[in-house]
Amino acid sequence: MCDERVLCELDDLPDGGSRGLLREGLDDKLCVVRQGGEVFVWLNDCPHEHRPMEYRQDRFLSGDGQHIVCYAHSAHFDIRTGYCFAGPCTGQHLTKVPARIENGKVWIPAELPSIFD
Ligand code: FES
Repeated sequence: MCDERVLCELDDLPDGGSRGLLREGLDDKLCVVRQGGEVFVWLNDCPHEHRPMEYRQDRFLSGDGQHIVCYAHSAHFDIRTGYCFAGPCTGQHLTKVPARIENGKVWIPAELPSIFD
């Protein structure tokens, strides 16, 4: 079993919304989406041109909150699977960061997946 670390409190995440976390320089390394008691964590790395996806801080979702959108060229991703179903990288996936919730905290692996895995 790999080492884990606490990413944030579940209550820090807006239900039905998104947040960018793990800031490095000007960018947040992670895109985090909460839906009720579930949390989906993705590397903030669009497979199209390997750029951050949000249009401003913490804003990763479509207007209806149903999809992740990369605002550079409007790639649309399924929140649960990371699958790109529309846009220039259709058929590709975001890179998943496994996350689990325990005692109100969101846990992720101590080491993030590489985009080159
Ligand atoms: S960099 Fe994301 S759609 Fe082009």
